[in-house]
Parts: sequence; C-alpha cells; structure tokens
Amino acid sequence: MVKICCIGAGYVGGPTMAVIALKCPEIEVAVVDISVPRINAWNSEQLPIYEPGLDDVVKQCRGRNLFFSTDVERHVCEADIVFVSVNTPTKTRGLGAGKAADLTYWESAARMIADVSKSSKIVVEKSTVPVKTAEAIEKILSHNSKGINFQILSNPEFLAEGTAIEDLFKPDRVLIGGRETPEGAKAVKTLKDVYAHWVPEDRIICTNLWSAELSKLAANAFLAQRISSVNAMSALCEATGADVTEVSHAVGKDTRIGSKFLNASVGFGGSCFQKDILNLVYICECNGLPEVAHYWKQVILMNDYQKTRFVNRVVASMFNTVANKKVAILGFAFKKDTGDTRETPAIDVCKGLLGDKAQLSIYDPQVSEDQIRKDLSMNKFDWDHPAHLQPSSPTAIKQLSVVWDAYEATKDAHAVCILTEWDEFRNLDYQKMFDNMQKPAFVFDGRNVVDAEKLRNIGFIVYSIGKPLDAWLKDMPAVA
Ligand code: UDX
Ligand code: ADP
Repeated sequence: MVKICCIGAGYVGGPTMAVIALKCPEIEVAVVDISVPRINAWNSEQLPIYEPGLDDVVKQCRGRNLFFSTDVERHVCEADIVFVSVNTPTKTRGLGAGKAADLTYWESAARMIADVSKSSKIVVEKSTVPVKTAEAIEKILSHNSKGINFQILSNPEFLAEGTAIEDLFKPDRVLIGGRETPEGAKAVKTLKDVYAHWVPEDRIICTNLWSAELSKLAANAFLAQRISSVNAMSALCEATGADVTEVSHAVGKDTRIGSKFLNASVGFGGSCFQKDILNLVYICECNGLPEVAHYWKQVILMNDYQKTRFVNRVVASMFNTVANKKVAILGFAFKKDTGDTRETPAIDVCKGLLGDKAQLSIYDPQVSEDQIRKDLSMNKFDWDHPAHLQPSSPTAIKQLSVVWDAYEATKDAHAVCILTEWDEFRNLDYQKMFDNMQKPAFVFDGRNVVDAEKLRNIGFIVYSIGKPLDAWLKDMPAVA
C-alpha cells in the first residue's frame, strides 16, 4: 500500500489531497502542517477554506484514508510519496527583493525530510517554485540523506480557487516532470498511477523536471497576460466609446484566441499571478534576458495601472475628493466563490481611497472583518508567511467599518464600488439602496456585474469598466 504525506495544508494541499484520498481509497493520505489552528480546522466541521464541494469530499474520506495532523515528522517518515505544498513568498529583503521567490519554507521542509527519513521516498514539488528548484532540493536531500534515495518530481497544481474540486475531478491536464533516468522514470510512473485512478491517460503529461517547473510559471503568465490585455483595451474602450464586453466577445470568437478569461476587471488578484510573474521576471534577469523580463513585467504594471485608474476614476468623479465621504465597498475577495483575499485588487483600491481620506464601509459575504483589517495593515508580500509570523493585532484603521449586509454598507454612502463579482450583487434592490444614499449617488462597477442602464434609470451615475462613459464621467476626467 502506498502512503502519501503532504506538507502544507493550504489552498493547494488540502483540496488536492482530499481528492486523491477520495479517488484512491487504498492509499492512505496524511496532510500535515505546522499551524495547529489550521489542522484543527481541517479536523472540524468548519474547514479553514471555503471551496464549493470540498466539505462533501472531506466528509467522505476523513478518518477513513484521509488524515490531518501536526505530527509532521511521523507522517513524513512513514510516507512513500511526500508532496511539498508550503508557502513560497516573494522575497522582501536582500538579493532579488520584490521579485525572487523566498525558498525558506521549502528549504526547511526539505531538510526536515532528509532528517527524519529512514526509507527511500519520492518528493513532489506541488507549490509553484522557480525553475531549477528541484536541483537545489536534490542537493539538500542527497547531502543529508544517509544513503537514502530520493527522487524529485515536479507536479504543479493548476486548480483555480472557487472551482478547485471540479478542476481536480476533471483536470485539463496533469503534469509530471522527473529526471530522465531509470529511477526518475520509475518515480514518474508511480505518481502517474495515482492520478490514473480517475484522470484519462492522455491527460497526464510527462516531461523533464525543468519543463514541468517552467510550464506552471508560463501558464499563469499567459493567463494573467490575457487579463492585462483586455484591461488595457478597457481603458481604450472608455476613451473611444467602444464597449469592452463587445470587443472581448468579437475577439474571443476567433477559435485561435478563445472566449475564456477575457473579462475586463478592476485587476487580477490571487496568490499566484503576480508572484509567479515576478518570479519569472527575476529568472529571466538572472539568465541574462532583460528584454524577456521587461515583456512579462508589463503584465504586472498594467494590472497596477488598472487598479490606480479605478481609484482615480472614483475620486475624480466625486468632485476630486472623497475626504470624509462614506464609500461602500461590495466584495473584498479576489474573485467570487472564495473567501481568499490574497493580492485581491480590493486591497489596493481600498488603500487608495483611504489615502484620499474616504470613510469605507466594506461588505463581503465570505471575508471576515479580522481578515480585512489584517490585509489593509499588512505590507506588500507579507501575506505569504505562515499566520504565526503575521501581526495578530493589526493597527486599527479608524476610517473603516466592516458590515454583514450590502444595504448596511451603502446606507448614507455617496458611492458604491463593486470589487468582487459575487452573484448576489447582480440581484440587490438597487432602488432601495439609492433611496438610502447621498445624492448624487454613484456606482463604480469594477466587475461589470450590474445592469448599468437599469441603475441609470433609478438615478445613479454609473461607471462600468471598459464601457461607454456617462456624460457626468466624461466631464470629470481622471488625470493619471
Ligand atoms: C490561477 C490559475 O487560474 C490556476 O490555474 C493556478 O493554479 C492558480 O492561479 P486563481 O488565482 O485561483 O487561479 O484564480 P483565477 O480564476 O485564475 O483568477 C485570478 C484573478 O483573475 C482573479 O482576481 C479574477 O477575478 C481575475 N480574472 C479572471 C479577471 O479579472 N478576468 C478574467 O477574465 C478572469
Ligand atoms: P497554497 O495556496 O500554496 O496552498 P498556503 O499558504 O495556503 O499556500 O499553505 C501553505 C501551508 O504550508 C501553510 O498552512 C503553512 O503553515 C504550511 N507550512 C509552511 N512551512 C511548513 C513546514 N516547514 N512544515 C509544515 N507546514 C508548513
């Protein structure tokens, strides 16, 4: 019987291992983490992450062949396959600060594996890592291994949050990279056999280690680039009277381009896109490829521009000042159907508005007040460190309230900013909202979820990303 252990019970490790346990009942899967509260939550009724379908999968397997534990060393020692799914933050200090991946957590996990192992193991890179990380990990393991054989595989995860379970059940592809040696090929085959329990063979792609590592960075860079491309177009649409939804539709009909992932927005967020592109940029620079680095850097700069442009639009439209005006923020998560706020554009937009002295009232159906306050007081890139390293009592932000209802958030507000595309925001009673707001009442829709015409008929001044501008907005241009 194969035993699997996954180090890191986060957004990737938790759902991925739960699905492996469900699909492979004869395999014992242990998910371990240094964070006691996180493991306790995985063992409770209230899982630490919100993901549609996850509760059901965990309930079916937990205690049967799926275990969550803080006894990291014991489970690593007993496992045949060890997945490593720990944090890989962006470095904030020293060489490569602001770009390079900080492999502290990875290195300490690798050293621990070497220390506690008594039998040969396959070690699988699951969290995204820089190209050639496997080589570094191999060195750590082989220098400390007391003669035990370790095979390193790269098996990047492509799941998206909010659809993680669906993505894991029916992946577009599973990618496994390994050394091109007989032992490497054997390790690849072992992992392939795990996925083959439910993934058709033609969807399991086997490559060399470096291709697998780079493919993950490349896939995220391509996806983010699509969003930055459509967001760049959204600025031009507003300037010319074109409608970005019509442009995306027309462009996406070309089967070579495809229609998915072309929604203009206030900017992309999430734990991967920015971090992985910065990492890619750094790797290019280190390999003497400044032009390639510059090319990918633009994807991030365009995303930053989109967030700044949104804030400028809000402030400019409201007579160039939001000081002491109540502004309602609907949605804080980086996209709908998740409570995750990592790199959410809402952080930059809220910080921008707070910088202009607005009074914010925030509502998100899945994000807690504690999380929002933490996010707004944390420094850039600090989110990607285990919780115990983060400040437990974030500095109080006085101009901020977090409420549990969209109507409460918008009561007496001058403006509403929609920053996450939660379905419920489509069907709010906007007439009721309008009646309880200051006038003129503004809606700034950063996700194109509202019916702008309907809202204009109620009396709102409406801004929708990439759509023809109201006369009011044309008269109050935002200076970048
Ligand atoms: C992403 C990749 O999709 C996934 O394959 C990888 O494993 C991890 O990173 P995730 O960050 O969970 O997944 O979410 P994703 O659905 O890709 O959305 C990322 C951001 O882009 C969100 O803020 C989303 O709102 C935004 N987005 C997405 C747009 O603004 N427009 C779009 O058309 C699509
Ligand atoms: P992801 O989105 O990639 O899953 P998360 O930040 O959600 O990332 O999860 C990473 C997890 O890894 C965290 O819960 C953290 O506590 C855990 N972790 C980091 N270092 C170690 C380690 N050395 N041993 C065990 N768990 C670790």
